[in-house]
Amino acid sequence: MTSNPVVAIVGATGAVGQTMLQVLAEKNFPLKKLVPFASKRSAGKKIEYKGQKIEVVALEKGCFEGIDIALFSAGGSVSEKYAPQAASEGAVVVDNTAAFRYHDDIPLVVPECNRADIFKHNGIIANPNCSTIQLLVALKPLHEAFTLKRMIVSTYQAVSGAGATAIQEMLDNTKAILNGENFENKKFAHQIAFNALPQIDKFMEGGWTKEEMKMVWETHKILGDENIGVTSTCVRIPVTSGHSESVYAEFDRQIEISEVRNLWENASGIKVMDDPANSVYPLASKAVGTNPVYVGRLRKDHVCENAINFWCVADNLRKGAALNAVQIAECLVEGK
Ligand code: A2P
Repeated sequence: MTSNPVVAIVGATGAVGQTMLQVLAEKNFPLKKLVPFASKRSAGKKIEYKGQKIEVVALEKGCFEGIDIALFSAGGSVSEKYAPQAASEGAVVVDNTAAFRYHDDIPLVVPECNRADIFKHNGIIANPNCSTIQLLVALKPLHEAFTLKRMIVSTYQAVSGAGATAIQEMLDNTKAILNGENFENKKFAHQIAFNALPQIDKFMEGGWTKEEMKMVWETHKILGDENIGVTSTCVRIPVTSGHSESVYAEFDRQIEISEVRNLWENASGIKVMDDPANSVYPLASKAVGTNPVYVGRLRKDHVCENAINFWCVADNLRKGAALNAVQIAECLVEGK
């Protein structure tokens, strides 16, 4: 990979695409040129990058020629159609959708966990699901030290994970309810304002949602261990951005809280916020717009001596999507 690539963002007008632009600019990413793609509806509109206005382009055959890295975040069907095209036209794709995550020949990467897998790509690298990314950043150093056996996770996921229109639906719902007006749900099956929806993505066999199964499949693929027990319940809550997770994690041996804290304090991408006496713990409202995965409310389990419980929060648009994708792009530029 060249040291100053031409970078495309597919879905540049969306919630994740806009965050990708911010993260690339903040990192002063060494790109030669930025090409923003979106749907035909947005062609000709201008997006801003480092104070420069750049025209949005519609996808078509041949549009990826000359592009070195293409960051995709325009939905699964767009990725299915255009990511293979981009790869065949010479770009390395980092795909934020679930379209290719479970293909054996496509790496699924959280750089803090399995950076080396990036370099096994055949033109496409998959970015994991937002909830899995923050969970595995927190668990990887503990897994290395104590071997993870089983976890039970409940998520409290922000609406921005469902895109810009979902944020608007939450705001519209809220206003309508406060004004005693009627409203329509389009993005969600039920009212999202003043509610908690125990359904993200579609229902599958056995009563699990696809979002819950993503956490199982992706944990196994990223940590390279299919024996880790993963039970998850994924819930959408009326928070704009910032996913929170309650985690029970059980290991091969008895562990001390001080050991866990020490590993987290020395791990990259993690910030410990754990001073319960002063009501200090990770909060979605504080995580928004920042890059770390925050961990706190750390407790030894009172039933299983090999287990801990904690609370884990990250900005789902950043570490859960755009930041992780840009980190993969950085690794491509840095090389092995
Ligand atoms: P557009 O703004 O033109 O609709 P979000 O996840 O926030 O809803 O954003 C989705 C992103 O994917 C937007 O940038 C959207 O562009 C883009 N998009 C949706 N459909 C297509 C398509 N068929 N081709 C290219 N980009 C698309």
